[in-house]
Amino acid sequence: MKLNKIEFMLMNNPARRLMQKSLEFKKFKYFLNRNDINLKGKSILDAGCGSGYSTYLLEKEYSPSKLYAFDLMESQIDLAKKRKLNANFFVGDITKIGVHEEEFDAVFVFGVLHHVPAWKEAIKEFSRVLKPGGVLLLEDMNGDASKFFKKYFGLDHPNEAFFEWSEFTSHIEDNGLQILYQEKVVFEGLRTFLCIKPTNLNNI
Ligand SMILES: C[S@@+](CC[C@H](N)C(=O)[O-])C[C@H]1O[C@@H](n2cnc3c(N)ncnc32)[C@H](O)[C@@H]1O
Repeated sequence: MKLNKIEFMLMNNPARRLMQKSLEFKKFKYFLNRNDINLKGKSILDAGCGSGYSTYLLEKEYSPSKLYAFDLMESQIDLAKKRKLNANFFVGDITKIGVHEEEFDAVFVFGVLHHVPAWKEAIKEFSRVLKPGGVLLLEDMNGDASKFFKKYFGLDHPNEAFFEWSEFTSHIEDNGLQILYQEKVVFEGLRTFLCIKPTNLNNI
């Protein structure tokens, strides 16, 4: 679901960039280091990339061999393309990602699924596009937090995406992904996850 005007403004400003770099991306890097996972030179997908700041961080940190990034909103992708990154930006839907299966070593998702009524389909897609041994790094808010921002900040979040963490994590595992690590960001309603697609699915 596309952002309303208030959230578009909140997402495209220096405070959001600071939070993304110094909280969310920092945690992702910590998770990866802790698990001895090195993404330098690997293939990376930035799903729901917004105006591409996260894509910029990924390019700078990992110099990926392949960096794809997409968002539902054309206006976001137009902004992202202006960054002149070595990345393939396209308009796309996270519930039906236009790439081949097992194409990526890592998928990054910064705060997108609370906008997606069919969020379960999106998780299925992450599992489909990851190579065996590939990792999913995901940050999102649960239903309680999403409702709070909807009520007090006028953000437009779909009721269908008001999930609880227990439902969310079960769905990740039901799609063949193993959660290696999860942690709250600032408050319990906001969490970051590191998940892996096992090389042998029979092992989970
Ligand atoms: C809260 S913003 C986060 C943007 C960026 N990832 C960030 O962290 O700054 C959510 C983003 O998800 C995108 N989005 C919503 N539904 C989507 C869908 N079905 N497929 C792809 N992107 C979607 C929105 O257009 C928006 O850019």
